[in-house]
Amino acid sequence: MAGKGRPTKGNSGASTRGSSGRSYRGHAGLTQTPRNMRKRKASSNRWIERQLNDPYVQETHKRGLRSRAAIKFEQIEDRYPFLAPHMRVVDLGCAPGGWLQVVSERIKLNKGEGALVGIDLLETDPIGGAQILVGDITEPEMLDAVYKAIDGKADAVLSDMAAATTGHRPTDHLRTMALLEIALDFAIGILTPGGTFLAKAFRGGAEKTLMDLLHKHFEKVRHIKPPASRQESVETYLLATGFKNPESDADS
Ligand SMILES: C[S@@+](CC[C@H](N)C(=O)[O-])C[C@H]1O[C@@H](n2cnc3c(N)ncnc32)[C@H](O)[C@@H]1O
Repeated sequence: MAGKGRPTKGNSGASTRGSSGRSYRGHAGLTQTPRNMRKRKASSNRWIERQLNDPYVQETHKRGLRSRAAIKFEQIEDRYPFLAPHMRVVDLGCAPGGWLQVVSERIKLNKGEGALVGIDLLETDPIGGAQILVGDITEPEMLDAVYKAIDGKADAVLSDMAAATTGHRPTDHLRTMALLEIALDFAIGILTPGGTFLAKAFRGGAEKTLMDLLHKHFEKVRHIKPPASRQESVETYLLATGFKNPESDADS
C-alpha cells in the first residue's frame, strides 16, 4: 500500500540508506496522512500512517517484493553473506514469500541450481523451483515432510516465524522463542558442516540454554538488528554461522 500523496520533507528526519543504496529520510521526516482518518480507530490510523511514510514499504512495492521482511533479510545477507549458488535452503514460516524471493535469486534457483523448501501455516504463492508446504512446524510430521523435501540436508535454515500475538507480551515472547527452539533443533539435525542458521528472536529473549546450544554447534553467533527492523520493536535476529561437523562434535 504505497502512498499516493507526495512525501514532503520534515524538519528532523534523520537520513537512512535503503538496501537499494538510495538515501531515505527517517519516519519523522515524512508527512503523508491516511484518508478518511476520522472514520478509523486511532490505532489503525497510526498503522496506516506509519505504512504510508515507511520508505521500506515503498521500496517493497516498487521492487515487487512480497514483504517488507524481504528487505530485512537482504540487509542481513548483504552484511554477512552466507548464500551462494547451488545451496540448499529451508525457510520456516515463509509466507507471504519475501525471504523466498530473495533466497531464490541469490542461490540462482531459476537456473536449476540449489534447492529451496518453505513451510508456513498460511498458503504462499508459488516461487519458481521452490517447494512450499502448508503446515504447522510444531507438528513433527510437518518437519519430517520438510526434511524429506530437502533430501535431509541443508546449507542454511532460516526462520522468520513469529507466534500469533495474544496481546499479552510475555506469552507472545515465550511462544515465539519456543518456535525458535524448534527451528534450531531442526537445523542441528539437517545442516551440513559450515552451514548457517538465521532466526527471528526477541531482544533479551534468548535464554542461556539456547545461546549455549548455539555456541556449541556454531563457530560464530551474532545478534543483528537490520536497519529495516523498527527500532521500537523488540524483534532481533540471531545469525549462527559455521555449523560444526556433528560427527567431530559427538563426544563434547
Ligand atoms: C513474519 S512472517 C514471515 C515473513 C516471511 N519471512 C516473508 O518474508 O514473507 C511469520 C510467519 O510465520 C508463520 N508461522 C508462525 N507460526 C508457525 C508455525 N507454527 N508453523 C509454520 N509457520 C508459522 C506465520 O504464519 C507467518 O506467516
